[in-house]
Amino acid sequence: MNAQQLLDLMWKDYCQLNPAAKKIHDLFVAEGETVLNDHIALRTFDHPRLGLKTLARQFEKFGYVAKDEYFFVEKKLYAKHWEHPDETQPKIFISELQLEKVSPFVREQVNKMVDQIPDSVIQSETFSVCGRPWKMSYQTYSELAKESEYASWVAAHGFRPNHFTVFINPLKKFNDILTLNKFITAKGFPLNKSGGEVKGTPADFLEQSSTMASEIPVQFSDGTHSIPGCYYEFARRYPMANGKLYQGFVAKSADKIFESTNKM
Ligand code: NI
Repeated sequence: MNAQQLLDLMWKDYCQLNPAAKKIHDLFVAEGETVLNDHIALRTFDHPRLGLKTLARQFEKFGYVAKDEYFFVEKKLYAKHWEHPDETQPKIFISELQLEKVSPFVREQVNKMVDQIPDSVIQSETFSVCGRPWKMSYQTYSELAKESEYASWVAAHGFRPNHFTVFINPLKKFNDILTLNKFITAKGFPLNKSGGEVKGTPADFLEQSSTMASEIPVQFSDGTHSIPGCYYEFARRYPMANGKLYQGFVAKSADKIFESTNKM
């Protein structure tokens, strides 16, 4: 499997969980735009058998290199991003829930999930898009969501892209985030308003916005329930003093973007 095949597989899985993303993508194409992907975000737990490194492994085989790290104290998350030497390739942003900081209940539930994953799944080339490799009840999902929306999202959906991101800069008609946001909203897709619709400023070298994840039916061991799936993000990058576009992330913006999978 090569990098493009894995990215294609991830896009296909993502569109199934987030039909709105495909619709928005196609709306841009219909407007004559070429849509480039700025980054893909993945979520996991910092359990010894999992963590950033297990999701990053396949991307490092493809030549991706670990870059900056980010801390989200309140949400108990740690994250890092990876870049490919070929700058047209999307960055990979991986976050993990810090289990030593959560309640014994969450830790115990995560341990139960992790115990059900065969090593072969974690070692597989397609681990980043394997979906949920454990049994999960809606009751446990709901209990987890009370303490950590992030934990409940991973519990329900497993390992797969949490979001793809439209790179705003190369767009012709929509290369201003306010114009883009207006277009998305007018087409009927609600945006994440936590911290304002636009997160970050040119002074941060990164402006971001995102849709709110729409609810999708998910099969649990105690029935099918509609819960938030994935969202679509939009990122406008600004040049630094050296003239190069900033490639990193802004923790205080990402902190709010995480809330795009909250229940509306
Ligand atoms: Ni993102």
